[in-house]
Amino acid sequence: TTHAQHSANLKQDSVVEDISAGCGVINFKVNRKLLVQKMLEPFGKEEDVKFGLTSELFNTLKRGTTLVEYSSPNIAKKFHAGHLRSTIIGNFIANLKQSLGNNVIRMNYLGDWGMQFGLLGAGFGQFGCQEKLKQNPLQHLFEVMCSSTLICRFCLAVIVVVFFLQVYVQVNKEAEHNEDMKQAARDFFRQLEQHESEAVSLWQQFREITVDEYQHIYKRLGVHFDIYSGESFHQDQAQEVVQQLQSQGLLKTSEKGTGVVDLSPAGDMSSVCTVLRSDGTTLYITRDLAAAIDRKAKYHFDEMIYVTDKSQENHFHQLFHILLAMGHSWADRCKHVPFGLVRGMKTRSGEVVFLEDVLDEARARMLHNMSQSKTTKEMDNTEDTAEKVGISALIVQDFKGPLLSDYTFDWDRMLQAQGDTGVFLQYTHARLCRSVLRASPSCSTFFGMLSQLAGGVSIFALCDLYSYDEVLYQSAQDLQPKHLVNFLLKLCHLIASAHRELPVKGSSQVVAQARLRLFSGACSVLANGMRILGITPVDKM
Ligand code: ARG
Repeated sequence: TTHAQHSANLKQDSVVEDISAGCGVINFKVNRKLLVQKMLEPFGKEEDVKFGLTSELFNTLKRGTTLVEYSSPNIAKKFHAGHLRSTIIGNFIANLKQSLGNNVIRMNYLGDWGMQFGLLGAGFGQFGCQEKLKQNPLQHLFEVMCSSTLICRFCLAVIVVVFFLQVYVQVNKEAEHNEDMKQAARDFFRQLEQHESEAVSLWQQFREITVDEYQHIYKRLGVHFDIYSGESFHQDQAQEVVQQLQSQGLLKTSEKGTGVVDLSPAGDMSSVCTVLRSDGTTLYITRDLAAAIDRKAKYHFDEMIYVTDKSQENHFHQLFHILLAMGHSWADRCKHVPFGLVRGMKTRSGEVVFLEDVLDEARARMLHNMSQSKTTKEMDNTEDTAEKVGISALIVQDFKGPLLSDYTFDWDRMLQAQGDTGVFLQYTHARLCRSVLRASPSCSTFFGMLSQLAGGVSIFALCDLYSYDEVLYQSAQDLQPKHLVNFLLKLCHLIASAHRELPVKGSSQVVAQARLRLFSGACSVLANGMRILGITPVDKM
């Protein structure tokens, strides 16, 4: 009864149109028309792209400079599924951080130093391609491989890497039994470490040719980098780090004669990290120590994020531990984002040798599916569309679960048009674009007819749009793309029902306009979310 009295005292107005007492509760009924009107307000305007991003939720987020290191393949070695995962995950993290107002530095840290160059250098010496490679590597290979036929740049790049790998594999095999070859490799690498100009210039060519090839893949994936750094840049600094460790009393000598840092809590050397070989050369982690310190000094980052597979978790754990021990307190604003393995990445012709094969197959399969589907629209750039949709399928498959989980690569499942796939996202986006195109921008009686929208499905779809900021917030907290992916998939399901229940065709013009406004809002949230994931939305498919 007190409830009833209270509710009787409360006045209804244009916002709250009805107040009633229930059993232990007071019900407020909000004017739906007004609610929908308010909720639709942000859409159909220029600021569409900002929707969700200016939310109060983000007021407490620290903004600053974020350095994201991702992809980081090894030169003259295979670019494998792990590098592909690192590439797309890092790109997502960088996009997300950037949309939330951070200054983002995108860095690729190439594995461009080490014994593989010894072998490669020795191999080139032996097989006598050195001169021609120096003059004009692409031209040379072009002539050799296909003097008469026309060949695209892409095939050329593949040939270059095939060629590299062949030399590398061949030399590796040789080196197994051949002591001379092993010695030649060691010699070449020593020349490199001592900055001998001939070795350095050959190394430089290997690096350039390979980076060119990678850039071709990155372009297809819509990924770019601000900086191509690499292990080679930190050779000398790595020696300096060893000296610092020494002067700080952190460097111990092991029984084997290697330089180690004691990481055990008790200080009893029960857990150590090797930073110096017995021959005085540095290791992967030593170069990473130097690289981190150098990046902090150069780029003044507020946080740094490394993206690699989970097998390197311990490596980064040790890296941050040693940096802290050296007094670099910023090391606790460094993060490693680990991810699981991809199983069974195969193309029709068998095991994947090159990443490009996967991109090609995604495009080919998509082209085939599109030609089979009755709903496929006429377009001028079918190949390009198939490429973009194929890549979104790869990305969504990869981002659906927790990054740390392993998953099995499945062509058929990932390319389904109706399932929870990148194809479904693209299809919904294209369909929304078609609907929205029909909308005329000015319609004075628009708001008067909003009640036409206030039905079940549309309210759900609208409410869903309004959780976009929370989803971005969640992803920013744990750097997992699954929140955003699953939000977009759910949105697409709601839109599919809305398309069924709220036909635009055949409705009166005013009703159609109100519905279109909803679709236009959904379309821009979908497109913006997809872009953060690293997917380029297509307008037609
Ligand atoms: N090149 C390394 C690999 O392919 C990954 C580098 C990761 N980044 C780093 N700072 N260690 O395994």
